[in-house]
Amino acid sequence: KLYHEQYRPQIHFSPKSGWMNDPNGMVYYKGVYHLFYQHYPDGIVWGPMHWGHATSKDMIHWKEQKIALYPDKLGYIFSGSAVIDVNNTSGFGKNGKVPMVAIFTHHDPVGEKAGKDNFQNQSIAYSLDEGKTWTKYAGNPVLKNPGIKDFRDPKVYWYEPQHKWIMTLATKDRITFYSSPNLKTWKKESEFGEHLGAHGGVWECPDLFPMTLKGKQHWVLIVNINPGGPNGGSATQYFIGDFNGKTFTPMNENVKWADFGPDEYAGITWSNTGNRRIFLGWMSNWEYANQVPASTWRSTMTIPRELGLKEVNGEVYLTSTPAKELASIAIKSINVPTAILANGRDVASFIKMPSYYRLKLSAAKEDLFINLFNDAGESLVIGYNKKSDRYFIERDKSGKTDFNKNFSKLAYVPRFSGQETLDVDIVVDGTSVEMFADGGLSNLTSIFFAAKPYNHISIQTAKGSVVNKVSITPLKSIW
Ligand code: FRU
Repeated sequence: KLYHEQYRPQIHFSPKSGWMNDPNGMVYYKGVYHLFYQHYPDGIVWGPMHWGHATSKDMIHWKEQKIALYPDKLGYIFSGSAVIDVNNTSGFGKNGKVPMVAIFTHHDPVGEKAGKDNFQNQSIAYSLDEGKTWTKYAGNPVLKNPGIKDFRDPKVYWYEPQHKWIMTLATKDRITFYSSPNLKTWKKESEFGEHLGAHGGVWECPDLFPMTLKGKQHWVLIVNINPGGPNGGSATQYFIGDFNGKTFTPMNENVKWADFGPDEYAGITWSNTGNRRIFLGWMSNWEYANQVPASTWRSTMTIPRELGLKEVNGEVYLTSTPAKELASIAIKSINVPTAILANGRDVASFIKMPSYYRLKLSAAKEDLFINLFNDAGESLVIGYNKKSDRYFIERDKSGKTDFNKNFSKLAYVPRFSGQETLDVDIVVDGTSVEMFADGGLSNLTSIFFAAKPYNHISIQTAKGSVVNKVSITPLKSIW
């Protein structure tokens, strides 16, 4: 195994060393998924930002590559996106080589210190060798700050009906849309959200893309926010509506969250994946990201998630479920006979329990407790509370928790599904659980710092209530 340190996730991407936050520049090209990320190679706390780089054929097994973008005289390299400029609108292509273009925020720490308000500007860079080497554009920045302190995280999308690029930019308490014929000159189109959605913090890392539900096209606008998440700290909200190349019009005003957290943040989707929409987030929370136990690296990404749309009682929701590629590390599933689950018995005394796994079950809509525990006496509970009609994750006894007082808080997600039975799908690594309930309508992601993997499970239900179809799929280490 390449990595086997304490707290090293075995089925999620983490960098070899140094600090990592947001996923950046995710783009699919010639059979390879590229993942760039906010990276500080010289320390394990947030610092001068670079774009780290990793590649994968399945978004599960990753190969870390050389750092793609280094800070320069215009500043640190903050979050952004990447596109494949097939029509060579940028003119960066040479000898028929299609340019991969990165669009990112240059954050000038000197201007910030001096108390200026224009220290974040948008810049571009291109690669003609599939992301291996990068050239920053000499005309940077391409979009200058008009005097808004928080002016960052460009996500760029090719809007085919009008043959132009659309940039979705987080601008403090709203989204500003810009358009461009060539990625070099940008024109403001509209603003969205000053009076809509959650506003408990600054808007960051947005994304905009179309999805189809029953033959009808909808546009999904993702807006990450820090703080102000439903379980405290940072989280990913979204809007569903329409986009006409200029303005985004939401279908309704309810606040919605792709994942109730606490540990999925800055999540956005891959570019250039055709009809698939695959989402990846940073598996931490700004509330304690710099304090979690760490040795030579800090932080992890979530499992890649396939997005979908689902209508419930006339309302359209975004759903997230583990991407099918997770099967590439799956070993044959074990169906757990429900009889052995009675009275909260330990599943490990009946079957050989893996350290990392996917657990699926369905159960009656009654109180439910799924206890994951280890040989070190640490445990984490995932469950459903009938009275409040919410799922929850309790991690106060999950291992190390004393580095931040908010870490032990109970996390909740309401149930949105109209289905009678609970449907729970959980991905368990050595340091995280990701719960996708009811087909990905109610999601919770939670990290933990246990001394040993949770290779024991016991399930408790309300008296007389049944759990059925319990399956455990062992997952192999990706390293
Ligand atoms: C979100 C964020 C972005 C910014 C980056 C800096 O987590 O704050 O808004 O570009 O991280 O590392």
